[in-house]
Amino acid sequence: MHKARICGTGSCLPDRVLSNTDLEQMVDTSDEWITSRTGIRTRRIAGAGEQNYQLAAKAAARALESANISAMELDMVLVATMSPHMIMPSCACFVQAEIGAENAFAFDLNAACSGFLYGLDLAEKYIVAKPAMKILVIGSETLSTRVNWEDRNTCILFGDGAGACVLESSPKRGILDSSLHADGKLWNLLYMDSPASRNPELADPERKGCFIQMSGRDVFKYAVRAMENTVTNLLDRNGLSVDDVSLFIPHQANVRILGKLMERLGMEDEKVFINVNKYGNTSAASIPIALDEACREGRINDGDLILFCSFGGGFTWGSMLLHW
Ligand code: COA
Repeated sequence: MHKARICGTGSCLPDRVLSNTDLEQMVDTSDEWITSRTGIRTRRIAGAGEQNYQLAAKAAARALESANISAMELDMVLVATMSPHMIMPSCACFVQAEIGAENAFAFDLNAACSGFLYGLDLAEKYIVAKPAMKILVIGSETLSTRVNWEDRNTCILFGDGAGACVLESSPKRGILDSSLHADGKLWNLLYMDSPASRNPELADPERKGCFIQMSGRDVFKYAVRAMENTVTNLLDRNGLSVDDVSLFIPHQANVRILGKLMERLGMEDEKVFINVNKYGNTSAASIPIALDEACREGRINDGDLILFCSFGGGFTWGSMLLHW
């Protein structure tokens, strides 16, 4: 059976860097507090000409270049995002137009920070069913537009950016297995309202505005446990252990969550790719940005076993194994 293989990666980060010291001028916080609780030192914030789809399209163009595939060869464009600049059309349709992928159908997917893994899993199913397909999967966010910049509990955590990858079929290498999960009962521990409805029947006076709301400690606890379980089960059912993993690329939420996760999994530091210190939590974009950096830094070689893992609002979470 053919597999779905990632044959090119790309990413795009906004130019503007927002440091912890900058945040000290905006809310009652300190570089020391942010660094010790999250490991985040800087994040990127989108400005003019850096709408979600524009970041996504630049990441996509770089991924196509590294895959040596033209946009016209693409059959499908999927953008995982929870911060599109418009509800309709989808971000993916803007990307499709921007890069000139005229033969591709296009749509968005929202699984919060797990969106990229959900998207990869879906793309893999298409490619297994139709091996001729070439698919672009993008994770792209401009969470700076959805963060309450007066709420120190959340505004220090998030950043903007986009990462993309191109998938095609391969007789040997590619995605080996994945495991996706959700628990909608816990939605209110991490959520983002939409703008208030103008339909009086549906308007909710309790709504706090379209900002990210979070119960940080609960999210922390669930995230560590859920990611540990999904990774352990995925490795077990494939007869593998953490020792077999060449590189672990987790969702970049914060260094303390990752530290706890690595401790529980018994994963050595050098096997884990971490860049949350530079970009903060870029939600659906975090894994593809990290993957692109890892590729460009020469951290991934042919034959490597790569492990992805994510956790986010919903709650949604999941893990994936790839034979590179
Ligand atoms: N600067 C300074 N103080 C802050 C602060 C900030 N940016 N944000 C919160 N505080 C304060 C709180 O108000 C609280 O003060 P109080 O004790 O006087 O009430 C104190 O710091 C401790 O807050 P708490 O929420 O208990 O801190 P914590 O150790 O749990 O760390 C997080 C907070 C958000 C860093 C941590 O819970 C976390 O990482 N959660 C997961 C978040 C996440 O990754 N979400 C996305 C998942 S995809």
